[in-house]
Amino acid sequence: MDKYVIKGGSRLNGDVIISGAKNAAVAILPAVILSDSPCRIENIPDISDVKILIHILKEMGGEIEYLDRHTVEIDPRPIETEAVSAQIARQIRASYYFIGALLGRCRKAVVPLPGGCNFGVRPIDQHLKGFAALGCDYSLDNGMISVTAPDDLHGASIYLDVVTVGATMNIMLAAVKARGLTIIENAAREPHIVDLANFLNTMGADVRGAGTDTIKIHGVQSLRGVTYSIIPDQIEAGTYMVAAAATGGDVTVKNVTPKHLESISAKLEEMGVTVEEGDDTVRVICNKPLRKCNVKTMPHPGFPTDMQPQIATLLSVAHGTSMINESIWENNRFKYVDELRRMGAQITVDGKVAIIEGVDHLKGAPVRAPDLRAGAAMVIAGLVAEGTTVVEDVKYIERGYERIVEKLAGLGADIYRSQEPEEVMDKIG
Ligand code: EPZ
Repeated sequence: MDKYVIKGGSRLNGDVIISGAKNAAVAILPAVILSDSPCRIENIPDISDVKILIHILKEMGGEIEYLDRHTVEIDPRPIETEAVSAQIARQIRASYYFIGALLGRCRKAVVPLPGGCNFGVRPIDQHLKGFAALGCDYSLDNGMISVTAPDDLHGASIYLDVVTVGATMNIMLAAVKARGLTIIENAAREPHIVDLANFLNTMGADVRGAGTDTIKIHGVQSLRGVTYSIIPDQIEAGTYMVAAAATGGDVTVKNVTPKHLESISAKLEEMGVTVEEGDDTVRVICNKPLRKCNVKTMPHPGFPTDMQPQIATLLSVAHGTSMINESIWENNRFKYVDELRRMGAQITVDGKVAIIEGVDHLKGAPVRAPDLRAGAAMVIAGLVAEGTTVVEDVKYIERGYERIVEKLAGLGADIYRSQEPEEVMDKIG
């Protein structure tokens, strides 16, 4: 059971290079099966969620060649199945993108019900509503979703009852080769949705309006293999920005799209942090006490829910009382609060609202990573705490953060990975 051992107190300084966006990669990789020839995907993050999806593609019969750690060539032509085996696919929620992609490829999909982070119910009713509108029948039995389009897929107007990233992307995948016009209204606007649309259009699809709340898709007959490079990861970048601020550091985050980070930059500036934007960089300088602020998570371009645990950690050592309102997920997205409390944070949670009383400092302790972003928050807490923090269950963190230990150590953090439990307990001693 790997752990991270972090000795707090180092100010982070220097440059960090951001990897490709996890939440774009997990949709673009399944989308490859829509093409009639091989695709080369560049700038894919070297993380476990991506490895699982590549494994699924290989299990389905796809031919995979890694050209380097961040570039993979995928030939979907040998794929003959319309099913994704549950054994591994159930481990990540994003495996449900194979439904839309398989419907687009062969009008049939049999995929396990989504797994993923354990924060609350993660329904797929809007996905199924979209598939039904496109002419599909579906059934859920013994943990598998079976979706078929008995009379082919036809365009439709779909109004999403909830702004949902997953349903927006999954419907897009099914609609790009459907007959006629599909309109998705109340669509999510995240950068990774625009990236998927750009990938599909590069292959010859006709997707317009991605990044707005109305997406129009004219179905096409076929899509061709292309070379495509994935956008930088907005949330990885935001995580390092918050870590820089939390440690009173001076960090330049490289290979980013500053526009995607505007809500995060704005919150940091509200807290008294200096944020300097370059073409593909953001420099974060924190040399004065952090001010409190209130945060409400919203669909893009609002403050991302995937940055909520990280900003909560920063607010826990800011001056004054802050409030966080989690409007996207149930209150299970506050599971990290118990772990932060073990380090001396003063946080109370009431439903979807957390009230944070800033404290002078956190104290190192053994903590767990309840989920991916909460795990990142625990790492940030360890960086700022007095003493040593041991973060367990780091497998969740490594679902979405490539080489986080190396990247933080490169910024001057005192952090290492440990496989020896007794060594770790001695360390806390
Ligand atoms: C994506 O999850 C991300 N995951 C999540 O990031 C992120 O938190 C979320 O979008 C919101 O930005 C991936 O992209 C792989 P949603 P997704 O569908 O698509 C409700 C991370 O840390 N809803 O936008 O599953 C749902 O319950 C992960 O990288 C329905 O009601 O999220 C939630 O309240 C964690 N019915 C809200 O919509 C549906 O059919 C947003 O969910 C679908 C969703």
